[in-house]
Amino acid sequence: MKLLRRIANLGYGSRREVQAMFREGRVTDADGDVLYADDVVDPARVRIDGEALDPPPGLVLMFNKPVGTTCSTRDAGRLVFDLLPPRWRRRDPPLSTVGRLDRDTSGLLLLTDDGALLHRIISPRQHVPKVYEATLASDLRGDEGALFASGTLMLESEATPLAPAFLEVLDPRRARLTVTEGRYHQVRRMFAAAGNHVVSLHRARIGALALDGLGEGEWRVLGEDDVARVFAADAVAGPVSPL
Ligand code: URA
Repeated sequence: MKLLRRIANLGYGSRREVQAMFREGRVTDADGDVLYADDVVDPARVRIDGEALDPPPGLVLMFNKPVGTTCSTRDAGRLVFDLLPPRWRRRDPPLSTVGRLDRDTSGLLLLTDDGALLHRIISPRQHVPKVYEATLASDLRGDEGALFASGTLMLESEATPLAPAFLEVLDPRRARLTVTEGRYHQVRRMFAAAGNHVVSLHRARIGALALDGLGEGEWRVLGEDDVARVFAADAVAGPVSPL
């Protein structure tokens, strides 16, 4: 791929704007020699204003989503994308969130421009466990673990029961829930079906991948090892596959 198109696709600007960057001598190689739009160069050696190029397509990020941000590109309010480098919103292929977290949910969110990987992570058939920590309005009754593990719980206006999920009670009003699906408002609706109300919700893990000290609103580019942890077979905190 020509350098001009590669740089435009990374969101640095339109083709016309990137052309201007070449003319201004802002695109160089690692030794500082000015590059031209039709040069064929290893992208790893390209610099713009002295900085290495953004990661190529195949980008996977983990992000610690704060409460109050939306997993959308167009919502009127504060977006997850507002907390990432602005040009990442103009990448082609586009960067998308891997599933969604509600506006009022915080925690681990993945983003990628790799459509096949995205579908592999969100597909219920892959049984990737997602671990949520919920704070509840009322004390747990004690029967929620059995209800969520049953594989028979039907949420309102759904056609099929939920797959078994695993509940750990942390204290009377706090619980950790591991689910392998990503239905709409799933965790909030599960606790509502058990007569409770989720006051706050945080996603702590996807597979064996955890935030590991990543601060709220911070992001990190993932390597192959991190992505492999999403699919790690021993990621599950308890029995979530059909019994
Ligand atoms: N379940 C919910 O209810 N909300 C989320 O954001 C994620 C899972």
